[in-house]
Amino acid sequence: MQHNKLHLNWVPLAAAALTLSACDVAPGSGGQGVPDWPLAGATIGGDFELTSSTGETVTWTDFAGQYRIVYFGFTYCPDICPTDVQRFSQGLAQFEQVAPELGAKITPIFISVDPERDTPEIVGEFIANFHPRLVGLTGSSDQIKAAAKTFAVFYSRGEDTPGGGYLVDHSAVVYLFGPDGEPIAILPTDQGADAVAAELAKWVN
Ligand code: NI
Repeated sequence: MQHNKLHLNWVPLAAAALTLSACDVAPGSGGQGVPDWPLAGATIGGDFELTSSTGETVTWTDFAGQYRIVYFGFTYCPDICPTDVQRFSQGLAQFEQVAPELGAKITPIFISVDPERDTPEIVGEFIANFHPRLVGLTGSSDQIKAAAKTFAVFYSRGEDTPGGGYLVDHSAVVYLFGPDGEPIAILPTDQGADAVAAELAKWVN
């Protein structure tokens, strides 16, 4: 399935590109005060205006002061999206068990790349399966398009499925952002929930 192939291929591609851009920035500004996280200096993330699963307008700055896990996907995804969301949710839950106060500083966010079908209600039903504090966002096609661009996420309508549905090809990258909205790292959901918890322990303080 094309959808799966793209999912699997995109992460290393994105990671390589991001690592390069981080390296471009680091040498010139090296020395004291330069953060040592993997995505330091990468221009990923920023303002958006979207709609929550309960119908409220939500912007990036609403999460100021919180670490944020950000993942773009779609609720009708047959396999990879639910697996990714499950793993970062489980990883966060594991981290919360070990370090409750630090875990509470992290907000996990799911953003739909399928505004046509993912209404706030549908997104609400989806996120309820994973983590009690998981935030689900959707919006108009233009709002989603703008948000995806800001977060360096690719998506496009994929092949039709039996029964009148369709897949959405999209990059499946799980970002960790810091309290100021700075990109910190990509969470290794491909390695499972334990690896996600370990990565959170590395960066959240
Ligand atoms: Ni997917």
